[in-house]
Amino acid sequence: MSSEPTQLGLVFGGVSGEHAVSIRSANTVAAALRRGANANRYRLSCFYIDQWGHWWPPAVADAVLAKGTPAQREELPASQLRPGFQGFPEGALDVQVWVPVLHGPNGEDGTIQGLFSLMQVPFVGSGVLGSAVGMDKQAMKAAFAAAGLPQVPYACVDAQELSRAPEALLNRLEQHLGYPCFIKPANLGSSVGISKASNRGELLAGLELAAGHDPRLVVEQGVDARELECAVLGGRSMKASVLGEICFDADWYDYETKYSAGKSHTVIPAEVPEALSEQARAMAIAACRAVAAEGLARVDFFFERNSGTLWLNEINTLPGFTSQSMYPMLWEATGLPLEELVHQLVQLAQESGLPALSKRAFAA
Ligand SMILES: Nc1ncnc2c1ncn2[C@@H]1O[C@H](COP(=O)(O)OP(=O)(O)O)[C@@H](O)[C@H]1O
Ligand SMILES: [Mg+2]
Repeated sequence: MSSEPTQLGLVFGGVSGEHAVSIRSANTVAAALRRGANANRYRLSCFYIDQWGHWWPPAVADAVLAKGTPAQREELPASQLRPGFQGFPEGALDVQVWVPVLHGPNGEDGTIQGLFSLMQVPFVGSGVLGSAVGMDKQAMKAAFAAAGLPQVPYACVDAQELSRAPEALLNRLEQHLGYPCFIKPANLGSSVGISKASNRGELLAGLELAAGHDPRLVVEQGVDARELECAVLGGRSMKASVLGEICFDADWYDYETKYSAGKSHTVIPAEVPEALSEQARAMAIAACRAVAAEGLARVDFFFERNSGTLWLNEINTLPGFTSQSMYPMLWEATGLPLEELVHQLVQLAQESGLPALSKRAFAA
C-alpha cells in the first residue's frame, strides 16, 4: 500500500430538484471522510455544481457547504451565462477517485458516471448502466420483471397516448389496474409529479401532471402497505443491512410529508418477522444485480398489510446521505459506522479500478 494519500474529489449540488438535499448529503460525507481512522489516507477536495450546471472549485464548494444552502446566481461570478458543463475548475484533473454525492437527474442517472468513465478515473457507486436503469422507473421495472422480482401490477404509458387517445388510455388503465392507482413520471424522485387517483377524473389529472414532468410515465396499482427499506453495499459480493421502516402520518409518502419536519419518522431496525427481513435482504441484493447497480444502493419495498406480500418498489443508486438519511442510519444499526462506511465506498471504487469499458478497449 502506498503511503501517499489518495486525492478524492467529492462533487455535489447539480441540476436537479434534489440540489439542496445533495448539499446536506455532501456535508455528511465530507465530514466523515475527514475524520475517523482512515482520514490520513485521503486528501479531499470538494467541487460544487451550481443549479445552472457550472462546476466550481474547492474555495466556492467549501463556502456552499459551510452555508448549507444553494448558491444563488448573484453570489457566483457573473461570467457564467451559458448553462451546462463548461469544463473543469482547477484541481479537478488531479482527482484520483471521484465521490459523486448528487441525487436525481444529472448525477444519479449515469450522466456524470459517463464523464468519469471517459476520463478513466474510478468513482464511487454504480456505473452508467446501473445508474441509468435505476433512475428510469420504466427501465427499472422492466429489469426487475426480467429478473422475476415481485412488483405491484403496473403499466408503462407514453405521454403521447394521453394527447392522441385519452379515452382508450383511461379504459386500458382502469381495466388493467383499477383504483386506487399511482401515477408517476419515470425520471424524477422525491415524490415530485406523483399522484394517487381514486377515480377517472383524478387519473386523467394525474396523467396530465406527470406528463408535464416527463414523457415517460408509469401507473401502478395502489397497495395498502408498510414501507420498508434496505441498504446494500459492495461490488462483486454485496451485503445488505438490517431493514428500516418509514412511518408517516399521511395517506402516502408525498413530497410534503417527506420534507416537512415531524411528519415522518424511521424505525430501525423495522419491527418485522426475521423471515421477512431475510427475504427483503435477499431481494435487495437481487434488485441490485437486476439493474447492474454497484457500490451502494437503497432498495425500497411495500409490505402489504392484508396479504403480507412483499413487493419491490424501487432502487436508489445514490441514496440520501444526510445525517437523518436512511442509508447511513441503516449501516450504523448494522454495525458499520459512517466513517467506516464512506471508507469502504472509496475502497470499492479503487478496487473496481478503471471502468470496464475502457479496460476492454485497451486490451483489444
Ligand atoms: N403502488 C403504490 N401503492 C401505494 N403507495 C404507493 C405506490 N407507489 C407509490 N406510492 C407512494 O408514493 C411514494 C413515492 O413513490 P416512489 O415510487 O417511491 O417514488 P419516488 O422515486 O419519488 O420516491 C411511496 O413512498 C409511497 O408512499
Ligand atoms: Mg421512493
